Amino acid sequence: MNYRHYFHAGNFGDVFKHWLLLALLEALTRKDKPLAYLETHAGEGLYPLAREGEAQEWRLGIGRLWGAEEPAFAAYLEAVRRLGGEAADGPLRYPGSPLLAADRLRPGDRLLLCELHPEVYSALRRCFAPDRRVSVHQRDGYEALGALLPPPERRALILIDPPYEAKTAEFERIAQGLERAFRRFPQGVYAVWYPIKTLPPLAPFSRWLAAHAPGPVLDLRLFVREPDSPLRLNGAGMAILRPPFALAEELAKGLRQLARALGQGAGAAWEMRWLREP
Ligand SMILES: C[S@@+](CC[C@H](N)C(=O)[O-])C[C@H]1O[C@@H](n2cnc3c(N)ncnc32)[C@H](O)[C@@H]1O
Repeated sequence: MNYRHYFHAGNFGDVFKHWLLLALLEALTRKDKPLAYLETHAGEGLYPLAREGEAQEWRLGIGRLWGAEEPAFAAYLEAVRRLGGEAADGPLRYPGSPLLAADRLRPGDRLLLCELHPEVYSALRRCFAPDRRVSVHQRDGYEALGALLPPPERRALILIDPPYEAKTAEFERIAQGLERAFRRFPQGVYAVWYPIKTLPPLAPFSRWLAAHAPGPVLDLRLFVREPDSPLRLNGAGMAILRPPFALAEELAKGLRQLARALGQGAGAAWEMRWLREP
């Protein structure tokens, strides 16, 4: 386990993921019923952003969006500013998904966060020490999909955001984890983030979702350039199982603006399609 999210925090893949995460949570908390949030690969919570040296991926992510005035990004940018602190060129620190989710969720909701790396796990625990809604687990996130579901609330968003150290073999592990999760909690809303370098390696997982998901699947993709090189990150995707009703239209509008703001050259684009229709 060599992956450390610190190097990538606030990059375009994070912006895409976290903007979507907040949109999902906003839609799911409109109903006055408690929600559980389970994250299989939680990371640290809050990341310092390097302003010198190589780890400055954030400059092409949150740095690019920093002054954006489109209403679609307002809630996300406001949360990043408040949680991470503000400098002229971007936030001082970048809040990860657990912190953004905890900030968005209500007093009666619950967060279950899984992180395997010992140091990252300790940092995550420290981050949430006073928050009684949060339980932090040092355990394998895929195994937790079987062990921690179904939640007593019977309503949950589950974010699966692995490091893809195993490259495309990670999709097999995700599918195995989801199979366990579907057996125990088919009514959950699942969101799976994935990196895009080229398109062909993604096709088997899309087919698997279309065939095995117990409900509708919406697949969203952001390309910052043509997905034509296996050597670099050219885009990011999120497959959302059972997305909240009527969210697709709202997301399409924001995604179009995100592709414009974060594009890095020819081929910057966005895509939204149902892998399985509602
Ligand atoms: C992409 S990062 C998570 C970033 C975080 N979700 C966010 O958006 O802020 C993936 C994390 O998964 C952790 N990890 C790797 N394998 C794991 C496993 N099998 N179970 C739980 N966590 C794991 C890594 O240590 C890393 O912190």
